[in-house]
Amino acid sequence: MPSPFKGKNIVLGVTGSIACYKAVDLASKMSQAGANVDVVMTESATKFVSPITFRSITHRPVVTDMFDPASELGIHHVAVAERADIVVVAPATADFIAKAANGLADDALGTTILATTAPVLMAPAMDGHMYENVATQENIERLRGRGVSFAGPASGHLASGLSGKGRLLETPELLGHIAMVLGRNGDLAGRSVVVSAGGTQEAIDPVRIITNRSSGKMGYAIAEAARDRGAQVTLVTAPTSLDNPIGVEIRQTASVAEMRDAVLGACAGADVLVMAAAVSDYRPAETASQKIKKDTDNEGLVLQLLKNEDFFPEIPEGVLRVGFAAETESLIPNAQAKLREKDLDLIAANDVNEEGSGFEVETNKVTLIDREGRIEELPLMDKYDVGHRILDRASELLRK
Ligand code: PMT
Repeated sequence: MPSPFKGKNIVLGVTGSIACYKAVDLASKMSQAGANVDVVMTESATKFVSPITFRSITHRPVVTDMFDPASELGIHHVAVAERADIVVVAPATADFIAKAANGLADDALGTTILATTAPVLMAPAMDGHMYENVATQENIERLRGRGVSFAGPASGHLASGLSGKGRLLETPELLGHIAMVLGRNGDLAGRSVVVSAGGTQEAIDPVRIITNRSSGKMGYAIAEAARDRGAQVTLVTAPTSLDNPIGVEIRQTASVAEMRDAVLGACAGADVLVMAAAVSDYRPAETASQKIKKDTDNEGLVLQLLKNEDFFPEIPEGVLRVGFAAETESLIPNAQAKLREKDLDLIAANDVNEEGSGFEVETNKVTLIDREGRIEELPLMDKYDVGHRILDRASELLRK
C-alpha cells in the first residue's frame, strides 16, 4: 500500500493567521505525496498568502469566493465538499472555529464545512489567551461533540511576542494527524497492534552500553502503517533519535528486561505483536556502579556476558506473533528455523547485507514466511510500505 495520501481528495481550508505560511508547506507535502489538494481560503487568509501561491503548488484552482463565477464553487457551490475524503482547516483561527461551531456558512469555507460528509480536522492557531478563552474552549468542545477532530495547538513562541499554547503544529505532525483520520476506518480499525523498535541497550557501567545498529526506523514505520489502517498502536521502543509518531502510544525502554516487561504488558488484550526491535542476545553479567577505569598495565578488559532469554514464548495466547530475522547468511533457512523455534505466525527475513536494506536506511528488503511455509519475496521498498505488506498478511491471518 502506498502513501496514505495517494489519490485522496483533501480540502485544505486556510483561515487568516500569520501561520498561513505553514499551510503552504502542508499543501506542498500532501500534493507531493499524491493527494488532490483543493485549497479553500477565507478572505482574511488571502491577506497573508496569495491564492496564486497555493495554485502554483497544488496545480488546482483555489476557492476564495462563493460568488466568483471563475471559482470552482461558482459552478457548484458544494462541489469540493462533496468529493472530499477529509476537510482539514489549518490554520484554524478562533474566529473561524466560532463560526463553524455556530454553523455559519457566510463564506466558501464555512459552506464547505457544513456541506461535507467527510471527516473534519481543525488545527488551531491563535494567541494563547484567545485559545484559553472560555468562548473558544466551548466552541472547540461543541465541534468535538459533532465529531470534528482537533490537532494541536502546540506551545511555544507566538506571533503576539508571548509564549503559550496557540502555535500551529508543524507539517510532519499535521501530516500524522491527517493520515490517522484518513485511515480510521481501515482494515485494522478496532484492532490493537503492539510494535517493538530500535536496538536495546545493556549497561556495562554508567557511561557504556552494549547495543546494535538498529535506528528504530523499521519499527516506527510499521507503527505508522498500523495507525494509518485504523489500529490502536502501542510502540515499545528502545532509545532512538526519531520523533514519536502521532497518535501512537509510546513505551520507552532501554534494556531487554525493560523491553520484555513493556511488550508483555502491552500485549494483554492485543491482537498483533510485530517484533522489529533488534534485541540484544547478551548482557553484562554485572553492571559496574562506577565508570570502569582504563587499566594502566595494558592487560585489557574481559567482560562476562550472560544470555538474554527470548521472550516470545511468554507472549500470551491469542496474540498474532510476527517476528523479524536479521541475517547476514542463509537467509531463508535461518528465518524458517526462527519461525519454528519462536512459534511465530509470520516472520520477515531481513538480509541486512543487501544494499539499501536493513539497519539505519529508509528502505528494506524482506521475505515473508508463514507457518504454512508460504514464501513471499518482496522487492526493496520504503520501510513504511514494508510495514503495510507485513500488515496485509497480518490482517489476512486475523480474518482467518
Ligand atoms: O531499526 P532499523 O535501523 O530500521 O533496522 C531494522 C532492523 C534490521 C533492526 C529490523 O528490520 C530487524 O531485522 N529486526 C530484528 C533484528 C533481530 O534482532 O533479529 P533476531 O534474529 O536477533 O531476533 C529474531 C526475533 O526475535 C526478532 O523479532 C526479535 O525482536 C525477537 N527477540 C530476540 C531476542 C529476544 N531476547 N527476544 C525476542 O523476542
